[in-house]
Amino acid sequence: MVGSGGREHALALRLLASESVGEVVVTPGNAGMRMAPQRFAPKVLRSVAGNPVEVAVHEAVDLVVIGPEVPLCAGLADELAARGLTVFGPTRAAAQLEGSKAFMKDFAVRHGIRTARHEVVRASGELEQAVQRFGEAPVVKADGLCAGKGVVVAESASEALDAARGMLSGEAFGDAGKTLVLEERVEGAELSLHALSDGERFVLLPAAQDHKRLLDGDRGPNTGGMGTHAPAPLATPELVERARREIFEPALRGMAAEGNPFRGALFAGLMVTPARELVLLEFNVRFGDPETQVMLATIDGDLGDALDGAARGALDPAALAPAARHAVCIVLAAHGYPEKPRTGDAISGLDAAEALEDVSVLHAGTAVSGDAIVTAGGRVLGVRASAPTLTDARERAYAAVGRIQFDGVQFRRDIAARAFGEILS
Ligand SMILES: Nc1ncnc2c1ncn2[C@@H]1O[C@H](COP(=O)(O)OP(=O)(O)O)[C@@H](O)[C@H]1O
Ligand SMILES: [Mg+2]
Repeated sequence: MVGSGGREHALALRLLASESVGEVVVTPGNAGMRMAPQRFAPKVLRSVAGNPVEVAVHEAVDLVVIGPEVPLCAGLADELAARGLTVFGPTRAAAQLEGSKAFMKDFAVRHGIRTARHEVVRASGELEQAVQRFGEAPVVKADGLCAGKGVVVAESASEALDAARGMLSGEAFGDAGKTLVLEERVEGAELSLHALSDGERFVLLPAAQDHKRLLDGDRGPNTGGMGTHAPAPLATPELVERARREIFEPALRGMAAEGNPFRGALFAGLMVTPARELVLLEFNVRFGDPETQVMLATIDGDLGDALDGAARGALDPAALAPAARHAVCIVLAAHGYPEKPRTGDAISGLDAAEALEDVSVLHAGTAVSGDAIVTAGGRVLGVRASAPTLTDARERAYAAVGRIQFDGVQFRRDIAARAFGEILS
């Protein structure tokens, strides 16, 4: 497993719990993954530093799972495959679905997938006229990877122009911003839907919802995600079926037809409009973080078999099935997040939180310092609980959060609170 976040911690634990898996090696891993969970003994989870290709070859692993988008877009899957390894994660060519928003938008148009009307802008001379062609201020998106910071939902045309100029000049995001996508703003509620695909067949995972703003009531700055729940009540079976037909089928067929079959996790960021139309906002070419933390707690089946099958082009779509459970994950962030997260605050109560039934504490920005676990990044921990109902999962997750302390901790108190009375009124 390549990565070091909460997503990878959750994946590693679920893989260890899979009958098909004997051992998990994570590179580089994180402090949480280095605390070997006893309940899986004699199976072990090891963290190893080094170049991922060399680690995978040296450890002679049967399967490599790549977590984050940056190595995928840089072609790590291709490099590993060239060394004879089996890889869960798309090739560099297929990863363009996330690596270039202009590619993704043109692809969606080519294959009849509903997405917000857009224009690609590459030169500042074209900018003003392009902005004017949108009735309201367009959303401004840097083409390339920007760690979730490359989108500005502008309130006015002048704000959109300012943001776009900063990007085009290279000042804001370097080369990643020198091509822009302007797109129509869409109102509604956001939904995260994931498919595991072997390039041809696919299986959908339970729909999740993220809470991206820092503060309760969706206020404050955007973050990498402050909490999730799954399955999302917003995603009725009918809606999921439409997403399958209108988005995943044409996308996966289209990638294969264009010579870039997609093997890995395809994550569609969707807007559900008040008229219950599905609009594709973006594709990601890997598991979402913190969506993965809740999705994995709401499926039954052997994850190792599913990922291995997808990697080998022989996915059994029955390998994973929805569980009769609900999960909520609450992110604990460091003081100063997202602008300037403070590091080095000692964390207590981790064992007490995990002593609660069906609670897991998934590490992201933590480090070991002497005998203590300390904060070492913006999003520090994901506290996940599962239960037969969403209400119980939510209560359990907050009970666990109440047992964890560190100075300056920030978390939202309304994760999953609006899951039922969605914004669709
Ligand atoms: N067309 C749009 N209309 C309204 N909001 C949007 C639109 N596109 C993006 N957003 C908002 O901006 C966020 C980030 O955009 P997204 O395309 O997901 O890029 P990234 O995740 O790469 O930053 C979305 O989660 C959504 O809240
Ligand atoms: Mg997004």
